[in-house]
Amino acid sequence: MLSKRILICAIVLLLAVVGTAAAVELTPKEMLGKNLFFDENLSEPKGQDCAVCHGSEAGWTGTDSNINAHGSVYEGAVQGRFGNRKPPSSAYATSSPIFHFEKGKGGFFIGGNFWDGRATGEKLGNPAADQAQGPFLNPLEQNNPDASAVVQKVCSSNYVDLFKQVWGDNACDNVSEAYDNIALSIAAYEASSEVNQFSSKYDYFLTGRAELTKQEKEGLLLFKGKAKCDKCHPSDGERSLFTDFTYDNLGTPRNPENPFYNMAEFNPLGAAFVDTGLGGFLSTQSDFLQLQKENYGKFKVPTLRNVDKRPTPDFIKAYSHNGYFKSLKEIVHFYNTRDVLPVCGFEGSREGVNCWPLPELALNMNTKELGNLGLTDEEEDDIVAFLKTLSDGFIPPE
Ligand code: HEC
Ligand code: HEC
Repeated sequence: MLSKRILICAIVLLLAVVGTAAAVELTPKEMLGKNLFFDENLSEPKGQDCAVCHGSEAGWTGTDSNINAHGSVYEGAVQGRFGNRKPPSSAYATSSPIFHFEKGKGGFFIGGNFWDGRATGEKLGNPAADQAQGPFLNPLEQNNPDASAVVQKVCSSNYVDLFKQVWGDNACDNVSEAYDNIALSIAAYEASSEVNQFSSKYDYFLTGRAELTKQEKEGLLLFKGKAKCDKCHPSDGERSLFTDFTYDNLGTPRNPENPFYNMAEFNPLGAAFVDTGLGGFLSTQSDFLQLQKENYGKFKVPTLRNVDKRPTPDFIKAYSHNGYFKSLKEIVHFYNTRDVLPVCGFEGSREGVNCWPLPELALNMNTKELGNLGLTDEEEDDIVAFLKTLSDGFIPPE
């Protein structure tokens, strides 16, 4: 009896030690970035930090199950104002190269942050830093009037000393420099080992410290083989990011519950709004105008790390740029049967079961690598089981 109790104590103690060892040390700059990421004062009105739309418990995406289950788009700091896209994971985004056109083989775009790459990285040398300057001033997100308002808040925060320790005693004097430094600090936190943990079951499997189940292994084989997922979400090698940072149109249907359709002030097209993705961004770039049409409807390949990470088993997550898909099974079924099942709207049609809606934008849809994979129901389940091994925070067996 006594020895059992000692054993339990020893185990508890061991877990505590392991727990401490797992906690990462952040550099001062990363720590500063963390303060900024979680600062609810940096919105107008205050109350909205980055983590509302990028919570670690939900794999660094939207933290409200009910929103994910419907429109999937988050309300900004101002009530009633919504953006038009689902928050992607803010983790594992820092490795995206600077947005550019890759010549050869017809040529294609690669890199940048956001679903359409418009945070190119050209300004601060890092897409994630360019990205971090967006939400603070976006009227549909944190809604600050200008950079100076954000700098003022940071310079009167309780972490201003850290800000000066990292960026110098005069860190608050020049607004534009300070605003750049705020963004660079956030990007540093996003690149830290607290955010980009590489601590999933799959990572432990790759280094021989955990076993995958038979089903997970089958899923991995299909992922790299018959299902072709690997072609855009590369999985090979330690620290693979499950994205090649390129752009594609999957033919994702529109999400009719997207609140942006009813945002007359910011969306004059109303229900006729179509998200043109990368092509839309290129239409604003004089260098790339001629390439816009062939890139309409394309979105950046997202990482699949933490794709199943959720705070509770019944928490709903949304997938793709508009959150049309509500489960991993659904999106895998779509990859498998998009071009096999008829278009919905007939008697007895059941969306996602025996039919699919039309794509939001049919132009440039990829028909080579997806749409008719010939997977069985069981094989779809195997792939889902594998995707579930990509959640960070796995505790390996002793
Ligand atoms: C109201 C919700 C909301 C808030 C608040 C918010 N974001 Fe986002 N975030 C989004 C959405 C939506 C997108 C995608 C937008 C797009 O593609 O046009 C996004 C995209 C991103 C990306 C790009 C990831 C990638 O792979 O391209 C990063 C990184 C990110 N956000 C970090 C942040 C940071 C840092 C903050 C705080 C300064 C923040 N977000 C605040 C909703 C939000
Ligand atoms: C041709 C490239 C390509 C292939 C092949 C591909 N994907 Fe994707 N994947 C994408 C793109 C692009 C998106 C974003 C689409 C959008 O937003 O409309 C995406 C989105 C996803 C998402 C949603 C992630 C999120 O955070 O919203 C999941 C899950 C996913 N893919 C899994 C898979 C699986 C599993 C396979 C294999 C069955 C696969 N993908 C094959 C390009 C690809």
